[in-house]
Amino acid sequence: MIVAIDGPAGAGKSTVARALAERLGFRYLDTGAMYRALTWLAMKRSLDLGDAEGLATLAREQTVLFSDDERVWIGGIDVTSSIRSDRVDRMVPVVARHSPVREVMRDRQRELGREGNVVIEGRDIGTVVAPDAKLKVYLVADREVRARRRMAERPGIGADALATDLRKRDAKDAERMQPAEDAVEIDTTDLEVEDVVDRIEALVRERSPAA
Ligand code: DC
Repeated sequence: MIVAIDGPAGAGKSTVARALAERLGFRYLDTGAMYRALTWLAMKRSLDLGDAEGLATLAREQTVLFSDDERVWIGGIDVTSSIRSDRVDRMVPVVARHSPVREVMRDRQRELGREGNVVIEGRDIGTVVAPDAKLKVYLVADREVRARRRMAERPGIGADALATDLRKRDAKDAERMQPAEDAVEIDTTDLEVEDVVDRIEALVRERSPAA
């Protein structure tokens, strides 16, 4: 079965999706990491980030790979840490907005999600990548709390810069950030990770008692 977890930056998707996958023994797929890896490679090669077709070709030629130890690879390079830089944070929405790029990524995500049980995390999983997912969850949280969470991940950046970055990213991601009609929305503002995972686990077991 597929569990789709969507929501804005800082809503807790990665932490929750990873913990949920581990608890259920499901695979975990971080689709944001795929857009980040492509962005990193395009910047490394000094490509024009406005060139939708060029970037889609790059995405087709340089598949993003996840190794068993959950490291992220592109073009034979381990980019697990590099894709979390603030340069990539800033440029990834520019790359992710190109439809031809999204087509390539979505096909690959469907391929990776096809077998067995998997938790897939992103923005458009419940709506476009896996509209038949058995369970769709849409995580939200107050922007202030989301900014604070990101600050913990990026200690080098000031609070104001982070809040501005987050606002800009929200605006750029907005068109893809619609929850699926049948998604269960969970507001994580005042919840601990464990509580969110408990809730989603209960939903999974309700829908698929054998999971
Ligand atoms: O979740 P994240 O911050 O790692 O996502 C990185 C960027 O990729 C973000 O700008 C949104 C975009 N993204 C997307 O458009 N579709 C997805 N399925 C996943 C991420």
